[in-house]
Amino acid sequence: MKDVYTISDLEDRKQLDADTDKPAKLAVIGWPVAHSASPQMHQAALDTLDIDARYIRLEVPEGRTAEAFERMRELGFIGCNVTVPHKLSAMAYCDEIDPSALRAEAVNTIRFDANASRGFSTDGAGFYNAIKQEFGVRLDELDITITGAGGGAGQAIAAKCVDSGVKRLVLINRTTSKLDKLTKHLKSFNKCTEIIPLSFDSKDLERHCKASHLIVNTTSVGLKQGDPSILPYECLSHGQLVYDTIYKPAETPLLKLAAKKGAKTANGLSMLIQQGAISFTHWFPGTQPLPHMQHALGM
Ligand code: ATR
Repeated sequence: MKDVYTISDLEDRKQLDADTDKPAKLAVIGWPVAHSASPQMHQAALDTLDIDARYIRLEVPEGRTAEAFERMRELGFIGCNVTVPHKLSAMAYCDEIDPSALRAEAVNTIRFDANASRGFSTDGAGFYNAIKQEFGVRLDELDITITGAGGGAGQAIAAKCVDSGVKRLVLINRTTSKLDKLTKHLKSFNKCTEIIPLSFDSKDLERHCKASHLIVNTTSVGLKQGDPSILPYECLSHGQLVYDTIYKPAETPLLKLAAKKGAKTANGLSMLIQQGAISFTHWFPGTQPLPHMQHALGM
């Protein structure tokens, strides 16, 4: 058994399953993928629910998504999760795309059915459930600000906000040109949400952030030691909800500042688990994997 497999390990099933008693049937594909916590939570659910399958990490270089899909299909895989850098390219190899993925313009979950490969995005729904779990509120009750809205996770979350009927959505991104395209896309499926695109140096940043009930960080700022808070102290307010999609470190500089200000804070572990649980139910409809996944990741 290996921590990380490569495409060449998919040449035949004997080789892939050497030294194990469970067949590999699910994978997370990405580059790099060694850090992924997905196998830990999915395997816990598979084992507890008595499903005879192994969930593996599969390292796939950029440009070889199609080949990885083909090999997995040949070996009878049930499906896979897709992470950076394949979230966009994987869409091209799906025969059918769920509305969740059309909205996010990316897939993170594939199911290999006999007649078709079907692509889903569970990030938006996972985020929705995480906010309910952490703060006890529904998205449609909130005005929301997203930092990093132009990134993959940011777009999936923005699409879910619009789909859920959020009244006011502030989208902030370093590269502001990405926000024009995103705003058009979001308006194409719901014109009722007021969308406010902003740059980090806008003079209106403080006013709009403070007026939001919920601030969500989807940038990678806060991942590395020494990173600053993505928003300054002045942009935060007492009683506000602040969610960081980063979960390592558990308390990012943004969450530290927000707690100091008297905001309620939560990190991205709940979203990671919630989106994983939704992926799992695409592969195994009718199952309840969530508590097993939460237990596996110490939540
Ligand atoms: P993804 O694959 O999800 O798109 P990404 O390319 O790492 O991930 O980008 C995630 C988000 O983090 C983007 O919105 C990115 O801003 P740009 O669109 O301008 O690239 C944002 N981001 C990354 N580093 C940043 C920084 N130092 N300051 C502000 N935003 C940053």
